[in-house]
Amino acid sequence: MEFRTDYQALAAQAEALIGGVPHCIANLANLSALIYQNLPEINWAGFYFLQGNRLVLGPFQGKPACIEIPLGKGVCGTAAQENRTVLVPDVHQFPGHIACDSASRSEIVVPVRKQGKVAAVLDIDSPLLCRFSEGDRQGLEKLVLGIEEHLSWTAVY
Ligand code: SME
Repeated sequence: MEFRTDYQALAAQAEALIGGVPHCIANLANLSALIYQNLPEINWAGFYFLQGNRLVLGPFQGKPACIEIPLGKGVCGTAAQENRTVLVPDVHQFPGHIACDSASRSEIVVPVRKQGKVAAVLDIDSPLLCRFSEGDRQGLEKLVLGIEEHLSWTAVY
């Protein structure tokens, strides 16, 4: 089953929401809420910040999640290390997947970059198998590209 999200509209909403706001945490908190409210059949949406050789939990919506993920581990750590989107149709088939919520069955992780380098990742989980399509990948990558220039990364930690 494919869910058709209007990513163009969502990206416009995202940019309107955070444009001109110089608070990174506030912006990422609002973005996680916007995504969580607008994508059907997801159970977690949020950000991890890259801090040295690990990812640290940032603003999110959903159940409490693991706080630190080593670079290269799990879906998030893989996306951050390889600086690419990782789409996992079935998390049980992904070696090293880190299960924060046992209900999660599929996942997509999109890098968020500062001057081309990974600064954070956007992680979205779904309780459905194969929830995320190529359309979701493209839509989310465009959404993230659109917000990167608006994010002020000062004083995150
Ligand atoms: N499943 C992720 C961990 C983060 S939670 O899903 C929120 C992973 O394997 O990296």
